[in-house]
Order: sequence, then C-alpha cells, then structure tokens
Amino acid sequence: MVNKAIFIFILNIIVPFMIFGTAFAKGDAMFASSTVNIYKDRAGQVSIGQLEVGAKVYLLKEEKDMAEISIKGWRQKGLKCVIYAFEGKRIILAELEPDGIKLVKVVKTVKDEDTQLVWERVVLNNVWIKSKYLVKDVNKVWSKISPLFHERCSMCHALPRTTTFTANQWPSTLRVMTKRAALTKKQADEITMFLQYHAKDVVKRAGATRKR
Ligand code: HEC
Repeated sequence: MVNKAIFIFILNIIVPFMIFGTAFAKGDAMFASSTVNIYKDRAGQVSIGQLEVGAKVYLLKEEKDMAEISIKGWRQKGLKCVIYAFEGKRIILAELEPDGIKLVKVVKTVKDEDTQLVWERVVLNNVWIKSKYLVKDVNKVWSKISPLFHERCSMCHALPRTTTFTANQWPSTLRVMTKRAALTKKQADEITMFLQYHAKDVVKRAGATRKR
C-alpha cells in the first residue's frame, strides 16, 4: 500500500514537475496594477505586447526601474496574439505583437471536452516591464477599480453582482454597458477585468483572486 502510494506520488507529482517545472522559471507571483507595455529587453524601447491590468506574472529579477518577468497562461490553439489567464476562460492576460509571439513556448496542450477546443499552456520567459506597475497584493489593484464600478454601474440600475455572469459572458454585456456609462477605453478595460476576475466561475478558483 505504502509503496503504491509513493509510486503514484512520483508518477503524478514528481515526474510532471521534472518535465514542466524546468520550463517554468521560478519567481514571486506579482500583479500588473495597470495595462502596461511588455518589452523584449531591459532597455525598454521595443514593445512586444501589452500586459493587462490584474495579470498575474512571476518576477525573475529587478534592475533599477525595470523588472524581468515570466508570463504563464493559456492560448486557444490557432489564436496566437492573446494569452488568457485560465484554460477555457477568455480573461486576457497579455496581447502580443508578432515579435512577442515568437518568444512564446508551448508547454502542453489540453482538449476541452465540452467545447472540443484545444488549449495550449504557454510561457513567455525573460521579458521586461516597468517595475513600478507590479504589486504583490492583487487586492490593491481591485480596490482602485472597485469605486469606479460602484459609481458608474449603479447610475441606471442597482449595481450588478459580479457573479451574475461567467468570465466568458461578461464582455458582451459590457460592450453595451460601457458605452452607456460613457467610460474611456482604459476604464472599460479595468471594469471588464475586474468583473471577469470576480465572475461566477472564477471566484470559486482557489488563489485566483480574493474578496471584492
Ligand atoms: C445609462 C444607463 C446605464 C448605465 C450607466 C449602465 N447600465 Fe447596465 N443596463 C441599463 C439598462 C437600460 C439595462 C436593461 C436593458 C438592457 O439589457 O439593455 C441594463 C442592464 C444591465 C445588465 C443586465 C443585462 C442582462 O443581460 O440581463 C447588466 C449585467 C448591466 N446592465 C451591467 C452594467 C454595468 C457593469 C455597468 C457599468 C459599466 C452598467 N450596467 C451601466 C442601463 C445602464
């Protein structure tokens, strides 16, 4: 019995860790406090994409005002320019330019039986952003956006619950509502990310995000 348990442990925990663990650079989890440019190198001149507000990244090292990070997320097979936060959920983590796409590595692929779509676990290592946009506690990001949501989304009706919809359902409702609420592109983005990360199917995920 004990031997079998150890064997299963090795097979399910150690082996995948050996295979995938090495592809993932290690670092502290941090969050983007705003939508920011991603750069190829420390010079920070050539932007290769954008990191979305609320995005979780891993800090590899900090040099002066720049931070070297690793971005881990999901792509729908065939769609290369967007990295999503979770498998099957269209919460944008990063949008990439062709030069950024070239740096993405696919770690594994998974087929979603419900939708028959193939999702790729991807990693973008050793890219840079301005370090002032990284925070340790994601609640700092949400507590800055929350007042805007409360103010602008309760003008015509009661404030909707973030859990009214799933992460994939929010964007289509918001396309209409952000026009009604006369939000700027930046504000619309912030409220979209806020609602998606607090959506019905995401709040349940351990570690995804905490209280509103
Ligand atoms: C100018 C008025 C106005 C503002 C501001 C507004 N809404 Fe609405 N909202 C409406 C009206 C009218 C409806 C009902 C009819 C409809 O769905 O078009 C509605 C419906 C909704 C619904 C229900 C949709 C459904 O499919 O059942 C949600 C959710 C919602 N709004 C969210 C928001 C959010 C989030 C914001 C802030 C970004 C917002 N609203 C701002 C007018 C507004």
